[in-house]
Amino acid sequence: MKLKISISTRLVFWITLLVCLLFGSVLFVIQSREAAILSEEAEARARLLAESLRDANYQSLFRPDQAAIQKYVYDHIDEDMPYIIFYDRAGRSYVTGELIPGQGDIELGSRLPEDVTRDDPPFSEEKVIQVRGRGLRVREVEIAVFPQNNEDEKWASVKIGMSLEPMYAKLREVQKVLLLIGAGGFLLGIAGATLLARRITRPIHRLVEGTVRISKGDFSQAIAIASRDEVGDLARSFNKMTGQLLHARDRMEDANRKLVQHEKLASIGRMAATIAHEIRNPLTSVKLNIQKVAEEESFAETVKAHLGLSLEGIDQIERFIKELLNFTRVQELSLERWPIEQIVEESLKLLRETLARKKVVVETTYAEGLPQIHVDGDKMRQVFLNVLRNAHEALEAGGKISIVCEPVEEGGKRKARIRISDNGPGIPEKDRENIFEPFFSTKPSGFGVGLANARKIVEQHNGTIRVGKKQGRGSAFVILIPAEEAT
Ligand SMILES: Nc1ncnc2c1ncn2[C@@H]1O[C@H](COP(=O)(O)OP(=O)(O)O)[C@@H](O)[C@H]1O
Ligand SMILES: [Mg+2]
Repeated sequence: MKLKISISTRLVFWITLLVCLLFGSVLFVIQSREAAILSEEAEARARLLAESLRDANYQSLFRPDQAAIQKYVYDHIDEDMPYIIFYDRAGRSYVTGELIPGQGDIELGSRLPEDVTRDDPPFSEEKVIQVRGRGLRVREVEIAVFPQNNEDEKWASVKIGMSLEPMYAKLREVQKVLLLIGAGGFLLGIAGATLLARRITRPIHRLVEGTVRISKGDFSQAIAIASRDEVGDLARSFNKMTGQLLHARDRMEDANRKLVQHEKLASIGRMAATIAHEIRNPLTSVKLNIQKVAEEESFAETVKAHLGLSLEGIDQIERFIKELLNFTRVQELSLERWPIEQIVEESLKLLRETLARKKVVVETTYAEGLPQIHVDGDKMRQVFLNVLRNAHEALEAGGKISIVCEPVEEGGKRKARIRISDNGPGIPEKDRENIFEPFFSTKPSGFGVGLANARKIVEQHNGTIRVGKKQGRGSAFVILIPAEEAT
């Protein structure tokens, strides 16, 4: 298996490397410059020292007074200037003073050429000598001494060794500081690189998460990336694609549901038609016969009551068959323009007596600007009747039904929204899915086709019906009907 190295690790590595290289080379240049400057300074100082030695002993050199020079030399030798040697005009050592016994090679002869002139630069060299068992870096400088009478031949020369340890100590200080700066830069580099890598890769992580989610079929959340770069573009096209997929899936599910519903209705229809046909005729003759028998005057009241109950039962069976056929029959809609108020009011009128018997209060609100709807009036009335009947059945005596009609705009289309709510017991969560299914009923003598029929009609009109949210007790049904012509 190939080792997986994340983008952020790679970014951190390369950015850190680059920062280190950059910082390192800058620091290296700074330290080289510093070393060169310090070295130049040391050389100038050594020259000045040699010149001041020459000037101090000038008289003694020409007199000549070897003892005076010797004394001077001994007085001035220390760790900082471990050796001073005066040479005569032939280049032999004349006065020597040194902290470095046994290193004859240092005093061995002058380092200046025989024919040195006033304009020649002094001899200068860096070297390592041994003092008390340890190496000491010194700058060795030798300058010629010329007589005052403009003669061009050198009279003597003086050579000194100046310790470079103070200079190197300073250079080490500088290096230490630069090293600290370098370490700080390194840490900053890593921190910065990590931050930068995170900034760059966070949207990528989100994108990956999003695509993983989508690949698992979860289209619910869009990828939240607002950046205006390539990753942002990618996220946006992903979101667009997800949206289209979601839309397509919804449409497919919807089509599937409709297909299943259609199939179901078709087979129910066939069955219902057969049953209705087989039952209807015998039922009618049974009904007629009972009615005839009931007309017989000589029957006792109890017998008449029993016959009345039978007729009621037959009525119930007839109503069921009628509703069933209503539900299963596919009928052409006869579309007309209707004011919603009128359809609602007509539905209420049909139920007025039933509602009054139970002392149910109905409150209607019609908003301003309600559009007319293009519907089959009879069928639409059926929808409201079915919903209102359910509300009535759910309510205790003295209950309340409220109907609110208002125009709404959804997806750029004008619609009429009719909300019918009651303060009855409400619909349990587990039943909400099922109440629109044919033959679902929680009532002992319910047929369960009222809401199924209502939904069928509403959907024929390109509308929707659903159970709405209700604050407090009771249930609410929300019906949306397009104001435009139904297709
Ligand atoms: N307003 C309502 N309050 C409470 N439950 C309701 C309401 N409307 C409908 N339901 C529930 O929905 C079920 C299905 O209603 P419906 O299709 O009209 O059949 P039915 O009225 O014959 O039972 C009812 O049995 C009832 O449980
Ligand atoms: Mg009903």
